Amino acid sequence: MVLKKRVLSGIQPSGRFHLGNYFAMIKKMVEYQNKSELFCFIVDLHALTTVTDGKQLAEYTNEAAVSLLSLGIDPGISHLWVQSDIPEVTELAWILSNITTLGLMERCHSYKDKVAKGIKPNTGLFIYPILMAADILLFQSNLVPVGKDQKQHLEVARDIALKFNSVYGEIFTIPEPLIDEHVAVVPGIDGQKMSKSYGNTIEVFASKDELKRSVMGIVTDSQSVEASKDPDKCNLYNIYKLFVSSEENKKLRKRYTDGGLKYGDVKKELFEIIWDYFKEARQKREDLLKDKGYIDRILKEGADRTREIAVKTLRSVKNAAGLSVRML
Ligand code: ADP
Ligand code: TRP
Repeated sequence: MVLKKRVLSGIQPSGRFHLGNYFAMIKKMVEYQNKSELFCFIVDLHALTTVTDGKQLAEYTNEAAVSLLSLGIDPGISHLWVQSDIPEVTELAWILSNITTLGLMERCHSYKDKVAKGIKPNTGLFIYPILMAADILLFQSNLVPVGKDQKQHLEVARDIALKFNSVYGEIFTIPEPLIDEHVAVVPGIDGQKMSKSYGNTIEVFASKDELKRSVMGIVTDSQSVEASKDPDKCNLYNIYKLFVSSEENKKLRKRYTDGGLKYGDVKKELFEIIWDYFKEARQKREDLLKDKGYIDRILKEGADRTREIAVKTLRSVKNAAGLSVRML
């Protein structure tokens, strides 16, 4: 019997999902769903590093679950759960923190970037790569689909796994990142990386008006209509290309270089394309929102089933480290 690869990724419930989240992570996860064993979870403990309003965090978590299900994560064949429902992960994070050097954390850019963007640093934010390593290693994951911003955190998870295995024996699978260069960094409407925390997103489940406003707000340069333009330098093009086939992409590039292209026309087209692209998912979302108890049931079943794997790994870890396994 050929064992299926374990593909795992988490997403923070720190706001509504945007095109960057969708193309770099969610779409990839859905594509892997039939050919691998898929683990998809909502990392509410990670979101705690920045969201301090409890009511809001709970709402975002529910919203994240509805969105993942609407976009194609199938709980019948995949593992879907909320991170804090499997408490073994925080126990593993503590154990791992004891073999992780301070220098490894100090080298992480994401922490420095967030602080530079004005997020107040707390200890949780600083050591969050260890929690992320625990997320990945607890489920013996093989592949982790993420955007480029998470590349370094994946390297940290690999370093921690290798160190643990060399100290205590071969317990962890060494995970590999899965980063698709075409969607590694989806730009926001201002041209910076699209991010929930930068206020520059195009949301997957925006209303028609919100979507129109975001797309019309994409920042473009002030070249004349007649000028031949370089598509690769254009933020609008870099978002548009996510939605088109390679044939359509060629035509679009030609329109840029030929001259005569009006950004306003391209924005109107893009708005229609995005609105249409997520039509089915929007419908599914409306249906899901009608059954209040469904999401809770799905998440509870998901956590129950997935927790068995967590307990098994934690038992091996604790045995190796000389910790008690009496209660596991
Ligand atoms: P955000 O930065 O909006 O808070 P998350 O940190 O929750 O997003 O990221 C969830 C997943 O989406 C991660 O795999 C991350 O790498 C990916 N991601 C987020 N923004 C982008 C982007 N602009 N381009 C590509 N991938 C992204
Ligand atoms: N740190 C990731 C982010 O901010 C989310 C995340 C947490 C994650 N745990 C993970 C991603 C495990 C992949 C695997 O986007």
